[in-house]
Amino acid sequence: MPQPHPHPHWEERLALKNEPIDGEHQLQVDLVNALEDVLERGRPREEAEDILRQLDDFSNMHFMSEELMMRFHSYPELHAHADEHRQLLEHLRTLREQFARDDIPLTLETIRSLRRWLGAHIRTMDRKLAEHINQGKVGPEAEPH
Ligand SMILES: [Fe+2]
Ligand SMILES: [Fe+2]
Repeated sequence: MPQPHPHPHWEERLALKNEPIDGEHQLQVDLVNALEDVLERGRPREEAEDILRQLDDFSNMHFMSEELMMRFHSYPELHAHADEHRQLLEHLRTLREQFARDDIPLTLETIRSLRRWLGAHIRTMDRKLAEHINQGKVGPEAEPH
């Protein structure tokens, strides 16, 4: 009987109450989950390579979009935040290259540590950014002074 996969597809603590950012994070987390799933089920390596490529490309796009928001909203911690994006991307590139060259096997532990790193980034740096953006919003329900 196949085991159900209790993947933490989306955790409430990752939600930042900013729709575009949350939507992109969900997709990012979905790709990490898909990668884990492919490894767990021993699917052909091309499938893992394909998901890893999508995760790398999508993360690149997502980080650029956050960095644009930071510029637009004059976010004071842009440099530290963008620096962690660079490190995450470098890590993804390295994984992708090593895996493509067959230097190291892609293990579940590698993917889980990637998930932890990504989750920690979302819960700290991205949360701060979303709070900064959300504070700057003047909703239609805002009280007139
Ligand atoms: Fe970020
Ligand atoms: Fe993010």
